[in-house]
Amino acid sequence: MLIKTASYLISSPDYEKCPAPDRPEYAFIGRSNVGKSSLINMLCNNQKLAKTSGSPGKTQMINHFNVLSVKNEWDKKPAPWYIVDLPGYGFAKVSQSSRRRWEQMIENYLRKRENLANVFVLIDSRHSPQKIDLEFLQQLAKWDVPFSLIFTKSDKETQAIVAKNVKDFLNKMRETWQFLPQHFVSSSVKTHGRDKILTYIGEVNER
Ligand code: GTP
Ligand code: MG
Repeated sequence: MLIKTASYLISSPDYEKCPAPDRPEYAFIGRSNVGKSSLINMLCNNQKLAKTSGSPGKTQMINHFNVLSVKNEWDKKPAPWYIVDLPGYGFAKVSQSSRRRWEQMIENYLRKRENLANVFVLIDSRHSPQKIDLEFLQQLAKWDVPFSLIFTKSDKETQAIVAKNVKDFLNKMRETWQFLPQHFVSSSVKTHGRDKILTYIGEVNER
Protein backbone atom coordinates (compact mmCIF):
# COMPACT_ATOMS: atom_id res chain seq x y z
CA MET A 1 0.00 0.00 0.00
CA LEU A 2 1.14 3.54 -0.77
CA ILE A 3 -0.12 6.56 1.12
CA LYS A 4 -0.86 9.34 -1.36
CA THR A 5 -1.87 12.07 1.08
CA ALA A 6 -2.34 12.42 4.82
CA SER A 7 -3.62 15.55 6.51
CA TYR A 8 -4.93 16.66 9.86
CA LEU A 9 -8.71 16.92 10.01
CA ILE A 10 -10.05 17.63 13.50
CA SER A 11 -9.55 17.16 17.26
CA SER A 12 -12.66 16.09 19.16
CA PRO A 13 -13.20 16.17 22.92
CA ASP A 14 -15.57 13.20 22.76
CA TYR A 15 -17.01 10.48 20.58
CA GLU A 16 -20.14 12.48 19.69
CA LYS A 17 -18.08 15.24 18.06
CA CYS A 18 -16.07 12.92 15.79
CA PRO A 19 -16.47 13.26 11.99
CA ALA A 20 -19.10 11.21 10.14
CA PRO A 21 -18.17 7.50 10.25
CA ASP A 22 -18.13 7.20 6.47
CA ARG A 23 -14.81 5.35 5.96
CA PRO A 24 -12.67 2.78 7.79
CA GLU A 25 -10.86 4.09 10.83
CA TYR A 26 -7.62 2.93 12.53
CA ALA A 27 -6.88 4.18 16.03
CA PHE A 28 -3.54 4.20 17.86
CA ILE A 29 -3.49 3.87 21.62
CA GLY A 30 -1.10 2.83 24.39
CA ARG A 31 0.78 4.20 27.35
CA SER A 32 1.54 7.83 27.43
CA ASN A 33 4.85 8.50 25.62
CA VAL A 34 4.97 5.03 23.99
CA GLY A 35 5.32 6.66 20.56
CA LYS A 36 1.79 6.80 19.10
CA SER A 37 2.08 10.19 17.42
CA SER A 38 5.61 9.42 16.16
CA LEU A 39 4.40 6.15 14.66
CA ILE A 40 1.54 7.89 12.83
CA ASN A 41 4.03 10.38 11.39
CA MET A 42 6.35 7.58 10.37
CA LEU A 43 3.54 5.66 8.63
CA CYS A 44 2.44 8.80 6.76
CA ASN A 45 6.00 9.91 6.06
CA ASN A 46 5.33 13.35 7.55
CA GLN A 47 7.11 14.31 10.75
CA LYS A 48 4.84 17.30 11.28
CA LEU A 49 1.49 15.56 11.02
CA ALA A 50 0.79 14.53 14.64
CA LYS A 51 2.29 16.50 17.51
CA THR A 52 4.94 14.55 19.43
CA SER A 53 6.72 15.41 22.66
CA GLY A 54 9.43 14.20 25.00
CA SER A 55 7.11 14.69 27.97
CA PRO A 56 4.13 12.35 28.41
CA GLY A 57 0.52 13.51 28.09
CA LYS A 58 0.98 15.50 24.86
CA THR A 59 -2.02 14.17 22.97
CA GLN A 60 -5.25 15.09 24.78
CA MET A 61 -8.12 14.73 22.32
CA ILE A 62 -9.38 12.33 19.67
CA ASN A 63 -7.39 13.47 16.63
CA HIS A 64 -8.56 12.52 13.17
CA PHE A 65 -6.29 12.47 10.11
CA ASN A 66 -7.55 12.02 6.56
CA VAL A 67 -5.63 9.47 4.55
CA LEU A 68 -5.80 8.55 0.86
CA SER A 69 -3.98 5.42 -0.21
CA VAL A 70 -3.57 3.29 -3.33
CA LYS A 71 -2.79 -0.41 -3.56
CA ASN A 72 0.14 0.12 -5.96
CA GLU A 73 1.48 2.62 -8.49
CA TRP A 74 -1.07 1.54 -11.11
CA ASP A 75 -4.08 1.85 -8.84
CA LYS A 76 -6.08 4.86 -10.04
CA LYS A 77 -8.72 4.78 -7.32
CA PRO A 78 -7.40 6.13 -4.01
CA ALA A 79 -9.14 4.69 -0.93
CA PRO A 80 -10.03 7.09 1.88
CA TRP A 81 -9.61 6.12 5.55
CA TYR A 82 -8.98 7.76 8.90
CA ILE A 83 -6.06 7.51 11.26
CA VAL A 84 -6.87 8.44 14.85
CA ASP A 85 -4.29 9.55 17.40
CA LEU A 86 -5.54 9.04 20.96
CA PRO A 87 -4.25 10.30 24.30
CA GLY A 88 -2.21 7.74 26.21
CA TYR A 89 -3.00 5.92 29.44
CA GLY A 90 -0.90 5.34 32.54
CA PHE A 91 0.51 8.83 32.94
CA ALA A 92 1.25 9.07 36.67
CA LYS A 93 1.04 12.85 37.02
CA VAL A 94 -2.65 13.06 36.27
CA SER A 95 -5.51 13.91 38.65
CA GLN A 96 -8.26 11.41 39.46
CA SER A 97 -10.79 13.56 37.63
CA SER A 98 -8.76 13.82 34.38
CA ARG A 99 -8.12 10.11 34.54
CA ARG A 100 -11.84 9.44 34.81
CA ARG A 101 -12.52 11.84 31.94
CA TRP A 102 -9.94 9.99 29.82
CA GLU A 103 -11.51 6.61 30.67
CA GLN A 104 -14.98 7.81 29.79
CA MET A 105 -13.89 9.43 26.55
CA ILE A 106 -11.89 6.38 25.44
CA GLU A 107 -14.51 3.84 26.47
CA ASN A 108 -17.25 5.70 24.59
CA TYR A 109 -15.09 6.14 21.54
CA LEU A 110 -13.89 2.53 21.41
CA ARG A 111 -17.28 0.97 22.09
CA LYS A 112 -19.45 3.20 19.94
CA ARG A 113 -17.37 4.23 16.96
CA GLU A 114 -19.03 2.15 14.27
CA ASN A 115 -16.37 2.53 11.53
CA LEU A 116 -13.49 1.49 13.81
CA ALA A 117 -11.74 -1.18 11.72
CA ASN A 118 -8.84 -1.85 14.07
CA VAL A 119 -7.13 -0.47 17.15
CA PHE A 120 -3.35 -0.65 17.27
CA VAL A 121 -2.23 -1.00 20.87
CA LEU A 122 1.36 0.20 21.23
CA ILE A 123 3.66 -1.49 23.72
CA ASP A 124 7.14 -0.23 24.58
CA SER A 125 9.52 -2.95 23.38
CA ARG A 126 12.15 -1.97 25.97
CA HIS A 127 10.15 -3.30 28.90
CA SER A 128 9.06 -6.68 30.20
CA PRO A 129 5.24 -7.24 30.17
CA GLN A 130 3.41 -4.48 32.04
CA LYS A 131 0.19 -5.08 33.94
CA ILE A 132 -1.37 -1.85 32.70
CA ASP A 133 -1.06 -2.95 29.05
CA LEU A 134 -2.32 -6.47 29.70
CA GLU A 135 -5.32 -5.08 31.59
CA PHE A 136 -6.10 -2.64 28.80
CA LEU A 137 -6.19 -5.54 26.31
CA GLN A 138 -8.64 -7.37 28.59
CA GLN A 139 -10.88 -4.30 28.47
CA LEU A 140 -10.76 -4.25 24.68
CA ALA A 141 -11.73 -7.91 24.53
CA LYS A 142 -14.59 -7.31 26.94
CA TRP A 143 -15.83 -4.51 24.68
CA ASP A 144 -15.35 -6.64 21.56
CA VAL A 145 -12.96 -4.16 19.96
CA PRO A 146 -10.65 -5.63 17.25
CA PHE A 147 -7.00 -4.89 17.95
CA SER A 148 -3.39 -5.71 17.09
CA LEU A 149 -0.14 -4.97 18.89
CA ILE A 150 2.81 -2.81 17.87
CA PHE A 151 6.00 -3.09 19.93
CA THR A 152 7.57 0.37 19.58
CA LYS A 153 11.01 2.00 19.89
CA SER A 154 12.83 -1.15 18.81
CA ASP A 155 15.90 0.96 17.93
CA LYS A 156 16.46 1.70 21.60
CA GLU A 157 17.40 -1.85 22.60
CA THR A 158 19.31 -4.74 21.06
CA GLN A 159 17.34 -7.09 18.82
CA ALA A 160 17.77 -9.85 21.41
CA ILE A 161 16.19 -7.81 24.20
CA VAL A 162 13.33 -6.67 21.96
CA ALA A 163 12.70 -10.26 20.85
CA LYS A 164 12.67 -11.45 24.47
CA ASN A 165 10.25 -8.74 25.57
CA VAL A 166 7.90 -9.50 22.68
CA LYS A 167 8.05 -13.22 23.43
CA ASP A 168 7.45 -12.66 27.15
CA PHE A 169 4.47 -10.42 26.43
CA LEU A 170 2.87 -12.95 24.09
CA ASN A 171 3.57 -15.76 26.56
CA LYS A 172 1.92 -13.74 29.29
CA MET A 173 -1.12 -13.34 27.02
CA ARG A 174 -1.18 -17.08 26.34
CA GLU A 175 -1.95 -17.67 30.02
CA THR A 176 -5.42 -16.20 29.61
CA TRP A 177 -6.08 -15.73 25.89
CA GLN A 178 -7.18 -18.45 23.52
CA PHE A 179 -5.97 -16.60 20.43
CA LEU A 180 -3.07 -14.21 20.10
CA PRO A 181 -3.47 -10.98 18.14
CA GLN A 182 -1.45 -9.95 15.12
CA HIS A 183 1.71 -8.18 16.25
CA PHE A 184 4.35 -5.89 14.74
CA VAL A 185 7.67 -4.44 15.86
CA SER A 186 8.40 -0.84 14.95
CA SER A 187 10.90 1.97 15.15
CA SER A 188 9.78 5.42 14.11
CA VAL A 189 13.40 6.54 14.00
CA LYS A 190 14.52 3.72 11.71
CA THR A 191 11.21 3.47 9.80
CA HIS A 192 11.03 -0.13 10.88
CA GLY A 193 7.70 -1.98 10.57
CA ARG A 194 6.15 0.53 8.21
CA ASP A 195 5.51 -1.76 5.23
CA LYS A 196 4.05 -4.56 7.31
CA ILE A 197 1.69 -2.29 9.21
CA LEU A 198 0.50 -0.55 6.01
CA THR A 199 0.03 -3.88 4.22
CA TYR A 200 -2.06 -5.07 7.15
CA ILE A 201 -4.22 -1.92 7.03
CA GLY A 202 -4.66 -2.49 3.29
CA GLU A 203 -5.85 -6.04 3.97
CA VAL A 204 -8.32 -4.96 6.64
CA ASN A 205 -9.59 -2.20 4.32
CA GLU A 206 -10.34 -4.86 1.69
CA ARG A 207 -12.48 -6.97 4.04
P1 GTP B 1 1.48 11.03 24.35
O1 GTP B 1 0.71 11.71 23.26
O2 GTP B 1 2.05 12.00 25.33
O3 GTP B 1 0.70 9.92 25.00
O4 GTP B 1 2.79 10.34 23.70
P2 GTP B 1 2.92 9.47 22.35
O5 GTP B 1 2.61 8.04 22.64
O6 GTP B 1 2.17 10.10 21.23
O7 GTP B 1 4.49 9.56 22.09
P3 GTP B 1 5.29 10.50 21.06
O8 GTP B 1 5.11 10.03 19.66
O9 GTP B 1 4.98 11.92 21.37
O10 GTP B 1 6.80 10.13 21.46
C1 GTP B 1 7.27 10.25 22.77
C2 GTP B 1 8.80 10.37 22.75
O11 GTP B 1 9.39 9.14 22.30
C3 GTP B 1 9.32 11.46 21.80
O12 GTP B 1 10.45 12.05 22.41
C4 GTP B 1 9.71 10.67 20.56
O13 GTP B 1 10.74 11.29 19.82
C5 GTP B 1 10.20 9.35 21.16
N1 GTP B 1 9.99 8.22 20.23
C6 GTP B 1 8.82 7.83 19.69
N2 GTP B 1 8.97 6.74 18.90
C7 GTP B 1 10.28 6.45 18.93
C8 GTP B 1 11.08 5.42 18.31
O14 GTP B 1 10.62 4.57 17.56
N3 GTP B 1 12.43 5.43 18.61
C9 GTP B 1 13.00 6.36 19.44
N4 GTP B 1 14.30 6.27 19.67
N5 GTP B 1 12.27 7.33 20.02
C10 GTP B 1 10.94 7.38 19.79
MG1 MG C 1 0.79 11.62 21.25
